Amino acid sequence: QPRLFSGMQPSADSLHLGNYMGALLQWRQMQETYDAVFCVVDLHAITVPQDPALLREQTRRTAAQYIAAGIDPEKSTLFVQSHVAAHPQLAWVLNTITGFGEASRMTQFKDKSAKQGADSASVGLFTYPILQAADILLYDATVVPVGEDQRQHIELTRDLAGRFNSRFGDTFVVPEVQILKETAKVYDLQEPTAKMSKSAASDSGVLWLLDEPSRTAKKIKSAVTDAEREIRFDREAKAGVSNLLTIHSVLSGRSIADLEVEFEGKGYGDLKGAVAEVVTGEFGPIRERALELLADPAELDRLLSRAADRAAEIADATLARVYDRIGFLPKA
Ligand code: TYM
Repeated sequence: QPRLFSGMQPSADSLHLGNYMGALLQWRQMQETYDAVFCVVDLHAITVPQDPALLREQTRRTAAQYIAAGIDPEKSTLFVQSHVAAHPQLAWVLNTITGFGEASRMTQFKDKSAKQGADSASVGLFTYPILQAADILLYDATVVPVGEDQRQHIELTRDLAGRFNSRFGDTFVVPEVQILKETAKVYDLQEPTAKMSKSAASDSGVLWLLDEPSRTAKKIKSAVTDAEREIRFDREAKAGVSNLLTIHSVLSGRSIADLEVEFEGKGYGDLKGAVAEVVTGEFGPIRERALELLADPAELDRLLSRAADRAAEIADATLARVYDRIGFLPKA
């Protein structure tokens, strides 16, 4: 079976609809045909300040949400990044073949460091994409299912893999990115030209997987739309309505054209009501299952620990290959 790798940061109490549509939905499907490796990337999370107790809790919560959303821990390998030492080890090696200018061009770094003030951003935030490349390359992943915002990092991963291979001989699989058109970018409900994001200035445009259904419904009902009355898909002129139509379509499995017909002559309130129903219908069981899993953290920890052993087997073999190619002296 070809392998896939993907991951999410445990940097909030809950995942949001963007994570769910952009990544988790694809993951759930792909685990049927791929040897799937899913990671909770806690090493990435600490590139911005984290509270230690909260980080530990959010790591469990993220893993619980993967499972609750349908990632099968028997079928897939679901583990925590800091449990496998090969990740930072390979990242160090890749650091040495990454150009300073190349890393400086990463737009996520530019955005995030601008937010923090360039001088207080950590060096870890700067090298973040190189650690991400290590994550992927350690597992010989052929495909990386993500949302649009990760495209540039996967491009860098491909460049680094190719560069290493040509310098030291064939070592890494060069992975393909997989981004689905419909779910590539889910937008903030209050600011429908910006992506839905954990770090949004206001919480009111972000739909959290673990929120109370009534809260989620309320947020959808106050989503920003436009001054027209017509319900049709037009990303440029009608960003808010188009986002709502996309969310409905992806979660209900109905085409946008079909929805446009259904809502012809109806008001934005009707559309919002329908979207609220679809979203809370989807989130409800996931929320319940996640809370159940979190009620037994010891079992969750055991499961993660077993998966880390399997992940480490694959990762350590790749790292050994890399160390050999580079010319490190084997430990006798
Ligand atoms: P993170 O934790 O920011 O996001 C996790 C996944 O959710 C997707 N996503 C979205 N998709 C559509 N619309 C949105 N509004 C939206 N917001 C987030 C992201 O594209 C991502 O797929 N750097 C990664 C984590 C990572 C990783 C990896 C991913 C570390 N190593 C190796 C893949 C492979 C990140 O910050 O994702």
